[in-house]
Amino acid sequence: MTTIAIPRGMPQYDGVPRFDVAKVRADFPILDREINGHRMVYLDSANTSHKPRQVLEVLDDHYRRHNANVSRSVHTLGTEATEAYEGARARIAAFINAPSADEIVFTKNSTEAINLVAYAFSNASPTGDPRLRLGPGDEVVISEMEHHSNIVPWQLLCERTGATLRWFKVTDGGRLDESDLDDLVNERTKIVSLVHMSNILGTVNATARITERVRQVGALLLLDCSQSVPHMPIDVVALDADFIVFTGHKMCGPTGIGVLWGRYDLLAAMPPVFGGGSMIETVSMSGSTFAAPPARFEAGTPPIAEAVALGAAVDYLSAIGMPAIAWHEKELTAYALDALLSVPGLRIFGPTVPVGRGGTISFALAGIHPHDVGQILDAQGVQVRVGHHCARPTCVRFGVPATTRASFYLYNTTEEVDALVCGLEQVRKVFA
Ligand code: ALA
Repeated sequence: MTTIAIPRGMPQYDGVPRFDVAKVRADFPILDREINGHRMVYLDSANTSHKPRQVLEVLDDHYRRHNANVSRSVHTLGTEATEAYEGARARIAAFINAPSADEIVFTKNSTEAINLVAYAFSNASPTGDPRLRLGPGDEVVISEMEHHSNIVPWQLLCERTGATLRWFKVTDGGRLDESDLDDLVNERTKIVSLVHMSNILGTVNATARITERVRQVGALLLLDCSQSVPHMPIDVVALDADFIVFTGHKMCGPTGIGVLWGRYDLLAAMPPVFGGGSMIETVSMSGSTFAAPPARFEAGTPPIAEAVALGAAVDYLSAIGMPAIAWHEKELTAYALDALLSVPGLRIFGPTVPVGRGGTISFALAGIHPHDVGQILDAQGVQVRVGHHCARPTCVRFGVPATTRASFYLYNTTEEVDALVCGLEQVRKVFA
């Protein structure tokens, strides 16, 4: 079992149970890979996580033994598939403490989930729920640290409706600048859509003040939890948002499955976005009426096996314990921040202390392009992401075209952080 001395800036150990990282690593077959003659060091879980055999086996078993379409068939296989699909929905609801499984809408990914909410606004009829009506004079608020998936859908919505897009700025230290909160979030604001944990800076946004202001002005709050749900306990009741979105492939599940959680009364007020089978109440040639949520938003055959496997991923993470996973990553992050800051010429973008941040660290090496850094690290088996990380406005904010990003998950170790730092020494030697 790996143990780490509590590093600089860490809050005191608060009795969160530990887990055996070596045992966890043994669950992930891909971690045995060699890359370019080196043992693979995978530091790109913010991009996509690996999958444990417990999830792979459920995916395989579903297709081998239970494959059928859902919510349509009375035969045994159809019933088994429907029970597995709806069972996954219930387990995912419990994982984020959603009051009801009917508040979980399966989507393709977080991007689709955000677009679904944005389209619901522009599809709202003039006689529909006023909370979902948007037009000239209304405002939508995002931030400068968003992933493109939480920027572009709102830009498109504002173009369609004539509403105005506004945004929180980011401080030099990589935190959300809330100094103009009361101006930014005002009586004209209809929705605030913010990242919970930044995929580029690692910042975890404390949302309490923003939520309070959103409630004061009668707006709605969406949190993009793509980078937080996989890594820390998330309780939608405690968060007090109106919508959260997250994606399966970053949390040990498969690609092609994501989640929109919404307060039931809001989902019930939202018009459908995609029309088709399974989302209707009745259809005639002169018009249709629609099913209640979540079915209203799940037109057509959904990603069944993917949802079932995401249920298995949630079981896997829950068995280890989200507080334990969060603590492990906090220790790794603290260790990595110290180690990276000891590399000459290295600049970190985002918080440099392991408080109010997660295990995703972006950095630059003076005078060396991130693509070169990425290639030389890859030659040593170290897998990191380089580029703008689909968060170009954040790069512009910090005056760089791109960064190198290392991101950690439950299976990473301090030895892998050491391998990264060793790799960076190699990069510096090549460019000396
Ligand atoms: N959003 C993913 C990332 O940050 C794709 O890498």
